Amino acid sequence: MKAAYVVDECKVEIKDIDVPRIKDNEVLIKVKTVGVCGSDLHLYKGTHAFRKPPVILGHEVAGDIVEVGKNVTKFKVGDRVTVEPHIGCGECEYCEKDLVNLCLNKKAPGTPGWIGTFAEYFNAPEEVVYKIGDNISYELGTLIEPLAVAVHAIDRISVSEKDTIAILGSGTIGLLTLVAAREAGYKNIICTDTQQFNLDMALQQGATLALNPLEVDVVEKVKELTNGRGVDVALVCAGAPGIVDQASSMTRRRGEVGIVAMITEKIPVNTYNFVFNEISLFGAMTYETKDFEKAMEMVNEGLDLNAFITQRLPFAETEHGLSILDEKKENVVKVIIEVEK
Ligand SMILES: NC(=O)c1ccc[n+]([C@@H]2O[C@H](COP(=O)([O-])OP(=O)(O)OC[C@H]3O[C@@H](n4cnc5c(N)ncnc54)[C@H](O)[C@@H]3O)[C@@H](O)[C@H]2O)c1
Ligand SMILES: [Zn+2]
Ligand SMILES: [Zn+2]
Repeated sequence: MKAAYVVDECKVEIKDIDVPRIKDNEVLIKVKTVGVCGSDLHLYKGTHAFRKPPVILGHEVAGDIVEVGKNVTKFKVGDRVTVEPHIGCGECEYCEKDLVNLCLNKKAPGTPGWIGTFAEYFNAPEEVVYKIGDNISYELGTLIEPLAVAVHAIDRISVSEKDTIAILGSGTIGLLTLVAAREAGYKNIICTDTQQFNLDMALQQGATLALNPLEVDVVEKVKELTNGRGVDVALVCAGAPGIVDQASSMTRRRGEVGIVAMITEKIPVNTYNFVFNEISLFGAMTYETKDFEKAMEMVNEGLDLNAFITQRLPFAETEHGLSILDEKKENVVKVIIEVEK
């Protein structure tokens, strides 16, 4: 079968490899669509924390089950599915608390023992496989994973007021976080981005205000909108040198700043806002199974995320798909690769 590898910095090759052999508890999926994610970009550019070339890209996937292991009980050949792409060890203190995302010995696609999803076939144990509704397209099925990231980010917030939230960065993750915040009942949602297209998309999806930090003083605008008070929560969904300071400067006293972006370089952080205003800081790492299930349910119940799919490319154009997201020379939110049309 064909699989798309990052073989070197900014270099993708489609190679021929064996179809994975499934274990008794696994299913084999004929891959229909995969999504290009910010973390694939990190791998592509050589800045990923733990995935290093040569490795098969991808963790967002939808397709059809073509084979089931003999101990599989929930699925049959022909089921249309997506995958929650991480497997906990089942033994560590975090697995015991159902925090697979924090497992000390977690398996993820593209790490030893599990291939990436940018391949014609992908194997997965049945407990991380989910059926997508008959009327849900494969490409929407592929968006359930990044939506789960957004659901988790919102779930990590402990401030109870839902008056105003700021989302800094309106790429796929920021925009899906906007959707999750909207569905969670936040009254005012302020989004930022440096691209006009993304700002327009944020407004279409229900943002109260969409601000470009290259054009306006974002902190000042947020203070204006909130009568000088600041937002209850600011979520960082993009990497930029001053972005954590921007988040803490626009957050009210006893509010919260959450970091969702994987900022691979060290950036300076002014700690004073956190102290003087007693702001809490949290991180949000992928999702717990409950978040994935919630995202699954939202999509299966008809949440329309089609506007976020801006490019559909054939498998052979995987590298082009990565460069589109990287260079942002064209309007882009989510690039879907059609592994099999
Ligand atoms: N925590 C997690 O589990 C998790 C999961 C997936 C992705 N991520 C990370 O989240 C981040 C966003 O992912 P994505 O897929 O949306 O990437 P993306 O590249 O699609 O989006 C980033 C957006 O930020 C915008 N941007 C750039 N500089 C900005 C600035 N100074 N202020 C505001 N916006 C700015 C860009 O125009 C772009 O629209 C990445 O760092 C990614 O690695 C984290
Ligand atoms: Zn992803
Ligand atoms: Zn574990």
